Amino acid sequence: MAETKKLFIKTYGCQMNVYDSERMAEALGADGYTETKDMSDADMILLNTCHIREKAAEKVYSELGRLRPLKEVNPDLKIGVAGCVAQAEGEEIMRRQPLVDLVVGPQTYHRLPDLMAKVNAGQPALDTDFPEEDKFEHLPKRVLPNRGPTAFLTVQEGCDKFCAFCVVPYTRGAEVSRPAERIMKEAKNLVTRGVREITLLGQNVNAYHGHAGGLAGLIDDLAAIDGLERIRFTTSHPNDMDDALIEAHGTQPKLMPYLHLPVQSGSDRILKAMNRKHTADRYIKLIARIREARPDLLLSGDFIVGFPGETDQDFEDTMALVRDVHYGQAYSFKYSPRPGTPAAEKENVPDDVATDRLHRLQALLTQQQRETQDSMVGRIVDVLFEKKGRIDGQLIGKSGYLHAVHAEAPDSDIGQIRKVKITNAVTNSLAGELV
Ligand code: 5AD
Ligand code: SF4
Repeated sequence: MAETKKLFIKTYGCQMNVYDSERMAEALGADGYTETKDMSDADMILLNTCHIREKAAEKVYSELGRLRPLKEVNPDLKIGVAGCVAQAEGEEIMRRQPLVDLVVGPQTYHRLPDLMAKVNAGQPALDTDFPEEDKFEHLPKRVLPNRGPTAFLTVQEGCDKFCAFCVVPYTRGAEVSRPAERIMKEAKNLVTRGVREITLLGQNVNAYHGHAGGLAGLIDDLAAIDGLERIRFTTSHPNDMDDALIEAHGTQPKLMPYLHLPVQSGSDRILKAMNRKHTADRYIKLIARIREARPDLLLSGDFIVGFPGETDQDFEDTMALVRDVHYGQAYSFKYSPRPGTPAAEKENVPDDVATDRLHRLQALLTQQQRETQDSMVGRIVDVLFEKKGRIDGQLIGKSGYLHAVHAEAPDSDIGQIRKVKITNAVTNSLAGELV
């Protein structure tokens, strides 16, 4: 038996990183590491990083600076950088921060035990390959105990779309789908360990092709698993919403009425410059079709303002699209030039102009979110309770529409789906009573 060492993982960025962190913890578990929530208690600290915008990447270096005193107190402390900054910057990280012992990219973390052997022998360990082998097949089985009733499951990784602003095709690599039978195995294993809701993850999840029936075919197979009550998926590209997947929103009761479908801009000129390969009108018509299949669907999106060349009129086109579509919630970002992407070569919109546009867009999106939340008051919804709330006797769960819902309920309702009447709404959550 290997001696027990403590591992602290800090996760930045998207849900796929949350999934990867769990799997890295499992890979290191085989090496004798157990997780701790206390950084100062750790023998190893792993930062699982995000490179999507400049601010996200810079956070890593400031966090590494803060770790220096810990390493001074405990020279045996190992520090690792994983994820998309590791992939994009590789050796540069060790040059900028010599206290880093290990750099591992998102496609090679199944090699962590070998990399740790190098670290333990006092050698620097770096692996940012895009390997031939399937990392999922080389990882230990999902073992983390006491998990909650919801889980992420990566079904697809990487992206071949090459939007002009995006680093993902460079950090996560080409589009790869996992075979359906392996996903089924992993899902069944999660369900036997208490999972009731699975969110299928992929940078381009609806491009999934590991099943003859595409993502809709996979969802149908998953829906046949007894005990799995809810299925979600994220993130999708409008061009990959095929007929079967649209239809599934109307016919598959386990597929939840929530869809994150980023459009980025409402201006055809900017969509073209972004290499999105669709127009605003095509997106709006697509939304209409999906809503026909599932009228109560809650729609979410992503927007970038201040993309190089964006004029006032382009921005007004984005505002018009948002008014037309009406989102239940959405994310909006100021464009951030990323090294190596085509858009990074272009001249930027002045920062004050981009900031002003971001504020205007966010105000509109917040107003729409608030309207959506308010419209829930008085309705009875199914809530999957996930954990205890901050107030004694209260649990927190999610509606099918992914609203956070608070209600008084016994602890035994954690992991159960209960009917809740919504009595109050604020921008980010709902409160209700069991019925
Ligand atoms: N600048 C700003 N936002 C970006 N996103 C991706 N790349 C950039 C960038 N360079 C946003 C997009 C994407 C979300 C995950 O992050 O809106 O959908
Ligand atoms: Fe960050 Fe994007 Fe990589 Fe996710 S895929 S970790 S959001 S850069």
